[in-house]
Amino acid sequence: MNPVEVDTARRTSGCPVAHGPLSAERTPTGCPVSQRAADFDPFENGYQQDPPEYVRWAREQEPIFWSPKLNYWVVTRYDDIKAIFRDNITFSPAIALEKITPTGDEANAVLASYGFALNRTLVNEDEPAHMPRRRALMHSFIPEELKHHEPMVRELAREYVDRFIDDGRADLVDQMLWEIPLTVALHFLGVPEEDMDTLRKYSIAHTVNTWGRPKPEEQVAVAHAVGNFWQYAGKVLDKMRENPEGGGWMQYGLRRQRELPEVVTDSYLHSMMMAGIVAAHETTANATANAMKLLLQHPDVWREVCEDPSLIPNAVEECLRHNGSVAAWRRIVTADAQVGGVDLPAGSKLLIVTSSANHDEGHFADADLFDIRRDNASDHLTFGYGSHQCMGKNLARMEMQIFLEEFARRLPHMRLAPQQFSYVPNTSFRGPEHLWVEWDPKHNPERTQPALRRLDEPVPVRIGEPSKGAITRPVVVESATPVADGIVKLRLVAPDGRAMPRWAPGSHIDIECGHPDLSRQYSLCGDPADAHALEIAVLREPSGRGGSEWVHAHVKAGDKLKIRGPRNHFHLDESTRKAIFIAGGIGITPISAMARRAKELGIDYQLHYSGRSRDTMAFVEELAALHGERLHVHAGSEGRRNDLAALLAKPDADTQVYACGPVRMLQALEAHCAHWPEDALHVEHFESTLGTLDPSQEHAFEVELKDSGMTVQVPADQTILTALRAANIDVQSDCEEGLCGSCEVRVLAGKIDHRDVVLTRAEREAGTKMMACCSRACDGRLVLEL
Ligand code: HEM
Ligand code: FES
Repeated sequence: MNPVEVDTARRTSGCPVAHGPLSAERTPTGCPVSQRAADFDPFENGYQQDPPEYVRWAREQEPIFWSPKLNYWVVTRYDDIKAIFRDNITFSPAIALEKITPTGDEANAVLASYGFALNRTLVNEDEPAHMPRRRALMHSFIPEELKHHEPMVRELAREYVDRFIDDGRADLVDQMLWEIPLTVALHFLGVPEEDMDTLRKYSIAHTVNTWGRPKPEEQVAVAHAVGNFWQYAGKVLDKMRENPEGGGWMQYGLRRQRELPEVVTDSYLHSMMMAGIVAAHETTANATANAMKLLLQHPDVWREVCEDPSLIPNAVEECLRHNGSVAAWRRIVTADAQVGGVDLPAGSKLLIVTSSANHDEGHFADADLFDIRRDNASDHLTFGYGSHQCMGKNLARMEMQIFLEEFARRLPHMRLAPQQFSYVPNTSFRGPEHLWVEWDPKHNPERTQPALRRLDEPVPVRIGEPSKGAITRPVVVESATPVADGIVKLRLVAPDGRAMPRWAPGSHIDIECGHPDLSRQYSLCGDPADAHALEIAVLREPSGRGGSEWVHAHVKAGDKLKIRGPRNHFHLDESTRKAIFIAGGIGITPISAMARRAKELGIDYQLHYSGRSRDTMAFVEELAALHGERLHVHAGSEGRRNDLAALLAKPDADTQVYACGPVRMLQALEAHCAHWPEDALHVEHFESTLGTLDPSQEHAFEVELKDSGMTVQVPADQTILTALRAANIDVQSDCEEGLCGSCEVRVLAGKIDHRDVVLTRAEREAGTKMMACCSRACDGRLVLEL
């Protein structure tokens, strides 16, 4: 076909994609199918080994394509997939558990002989039935309830490691990771532990039956196993009915059935019993195997995790993003729709490759890089999103954290053994069948430190999404140089000499000042182009909160420190034509980096720097050399003050004002800028103006979550963030005092009582976003896009 014909076809079908070399196939909408789309086969080894790599071409060139081999549309980009998850009415999950390869008559007859009637569960149930059921059954998954399972998971992890720790070699899948999540799943459901081996066989068969392509001769055996699984689930459920007072999720379901018999039906409970085991078991076993494989393939990262286990929660999240255990999920289109500009007629089946979304450069910077400090790792779609998002995500996170902790503490010297990885061919569930690791038992740390075998008081896992505040990075102080009276400049480098993270002017880092609970924020003042080091300048403040005193008293060249960040909530608008930079005292740190950038960009700027006297003002000479006449030094001892009233007398729509300095100076600036255009003034805040929440001054309200289809009550003594977390909704956070902007959520309706210092006046007035950690509702209700 020549290019002209392609074009015609595109125009008639409304397809926006410029296809590459074409095959003889056409999509159901009449559009030509590219050769690569025609070749796409998720049962091939390429997809099994690395799904996001296998569809890289699609993500980059043809993000939604028709697969003639599968008879599915395949969706590969983050935004398109999230849009599909958001709308579970147009994109129904009804086919989520449908067999991807229909079985033959013989296998169907076998299934029927067992009375197999796996029905809608939660994951493939449409509205309006789904949400009432999800709500009725959510209680067992809230963080408060999950806590009770933590000691059991720890005990199991310890016992299993005990079994092989002296062997020097183990298949982590066969010897631990397969069995523990199954046991945990059974405990969680309330099922007795017996018949574990049989169950194991059954649940593999169920995966092959649903997501795989069993050969005709295998289909009958698989059908027998699935039939047995079904009958077993029924028997256990009958046993539970006799004593529905137990603590498991199924017993809870049976009790809810008494109250809501038409919502929690018999057939539903039977299906849920079987589907629940699969949902909780293989997903978590595979996720941990994938995570350990990935970590051991990056020995430097593994070493860091072993040295600093506080990195584990975010490492788990990054593993789920980079190499999760659910590679793709399914939806069916219920009414003609468009996604990413492609027409999808009603009835179209969609394979949404979430593992590809997780590697989409449009959402994750340097997406293929495995970075355990990535601060949006938990935006991954491995747990799905919206009203069907995985209910068990926090149980899975807890298990994974505990397994990683156990390995990091007891087997830090473990490495991958040479091996070929194999996967059970299927579109969705993905993990290596075996994961061989080896180590020298002579070097087991507990041989010299027996206490490591079992922690008496383990730090409880953080249930839920990891906090950004927990992501620390070790640094070494390369130099500590006095740069003015009471001011020391620290140059911080990576312990292994590697590049430091990239940053933009206005960014700050948090330094742990001798104790994890004492950390202080310092703006970066060096040159962002210097990839080798981060530089800060610290003023000794005797009346401060102790951080700067500690730095001055203790920190010297060669010391090791822990930092978090860099993070930026004081951005320079690089498109501005003119800028006025105003610094007071140590406030010069972020301002100096901004002014340097303004110079590079050719922005027309002035730099005003005030202080008591030149010997208390850092960097004056350097700044003069760099900025020449653009620098205005206002030293009090020389009788010079920055006349803000004069400087800001005439508002200018093309000028942005950036300021950092003492609170009094910033307040004066706000007053002097009152007649300036909205949002002209940008101020760096390091201290929150929020007090503690005073319930007697607050009112309760509700937040409706549009994407999740639920309503959460926010009592007078809770923040929205706390209430959302208690309801299992993930929202990132960092400062939790309205300073950093990480907990921003989109608001669709309702009047917001803004309490942060991040949003600009215009953003507040627009009323479309808010900080969930501090801001509240003016009235009784807000609607959020969550
Ligand atoms: C749903 C993944 C562990 C219970 C889902 C969905 C995915 C998923 C992709 C569908 C989401 C959607 O349609 O938006 C995972 C992964 C896990 C994991 C990757 C482990 C790493 C668990 C565990 C449990 C569980 C441990 C139970 C204890 C459920 C349930 C649903 C679900 C009940 C259905 C929710 C609904 O449709 O309302 N999971 N899951 N999952 N998962 Fe998980
Ligand atoms: Fe920092 Fe809310 S978490 S503003």
